[in-house]
Amino acid sequence: MILGIECTAHTFGVGVVLNGKVLSNVKDMYRPENGGIIPNESAKHHNEVSEKIYLDALENAGIKENKIRAIAVSNAPGLAPCLLAGLKFAKKKASELGVPLIPVNHCIAHLEIGQSVGAKDAVLLYASGANTQIIAFTEGKYRVFGETLDSGIGNFIDTFGRHIGIAFPAGPELEKIARKGNYIELPYSIKGMDVSFSGMQTKMKQLYDKGIRKEDLAYSMQETAFAMLVEAAERAMAHTGKDELVLGGGVACNLRLQEMCKIMCAERNAKMFCPAKEFLVDNAGMIAYTGELMLKKGKNVKIELNDIGELDIKPRERTDDVDVSWR
Ligand code: ATP
Ligand code: FE2
Repeated sequence: MILGIECTAHTFGVGVVLNGKVLSNVKDMYRPENGGIIPNESAKHHNEVSEKIYLDALENAGIKENKIRAIAVSNAPGLAPCLLAGLKFAKKKASELGVPLIPVNHCIAHLEIGQSVGAKDAVLLYASGANTQIIAFTEGKYRVFGETLDSGIGNFIDTFGRHIGIAFPAGPELEKIARKGNYIELPYSIKGMDVSFSGMQTKMKQLYDKGIRKEDLAYSMQETAFAMLVEAAERAMAHTGKDELVLGGGVACNLRLQEMCKIMCAERNAKMFCPAKEFLVDNAGMIAYTGELMLKKGKNVKIELNDIGELDIKPRERTDDVDVSWR
């Protein structure tokens, strides 16, 4: 059994996987009182909850800790204090249990768990708070074909939410009120396969301050921002010749985004895959799942106990920095 630890941002999670099956997936989320994440506060949260989450994950999986063969930990990319808190906990447990560590890239874990629901060689639309990327596997690596040039789409949504008095995370509430909205034109910004949201953010704030209904803004924001993502994803599929699309990241919980992706895929005879919600948002099940896959099929993926002192965090590791030896 592989134990996975997620710690890259606001979520601390522990999951257990055996033979590709997630046996438990427990997490706790740091919630800033107001405003955005304060990295040191989030790391403090991780330190406070880690032991309890660990024990809950073992209990939910119905296993004893001596059954664990390796610990997978998301050491990249993310907020340095959070990554450090998670890695420190992983090292402590690895020493106690006498098992190796497997460093896992968080973005790649979103992709792998997405492919676990049936896709074989997909383009990933990864739409989360901090990240917005279109990723696909070519020539030994997961490569980023397109990405946001400014903020992640989730942060963009949450920032607008804050402006109109909706608490973090604003995505679910804006999705609800969008159902009662009408369309107004907003800046649509896509360059090649890259997208940007800052122009739309400025425009939406101006319109709101002029008295435009928040329902109309929420609806139009979804239609415009999601259309940009779908266009970029479609272009990546055409470019790589792949006929599968996988969704990942918390924003992919949005049913309108899922619907738009489904329509695009149907129009080009492609298939869309979307994992269950608990695996779309940040979670440790996907870290354990990816760790197991790497261990079974990859080369030199584990760090033996004697060497774990040298394993470090990589806050800025890019998806295409990782050598994908397991595919
Ligand atoms: P990263 O994965 O890059 O570390 P993160 O941890 O912030 O980023 P997730 O936990 O994957 O991201 O997702 C959180 C984001 O998803 C928040 O910005 C939230 O507003 C957004 N979100 C959640 N549900 C919805 C929804 N139904 N519609 C739109 N956005 C949503
Ligand atoms: Fe994530």
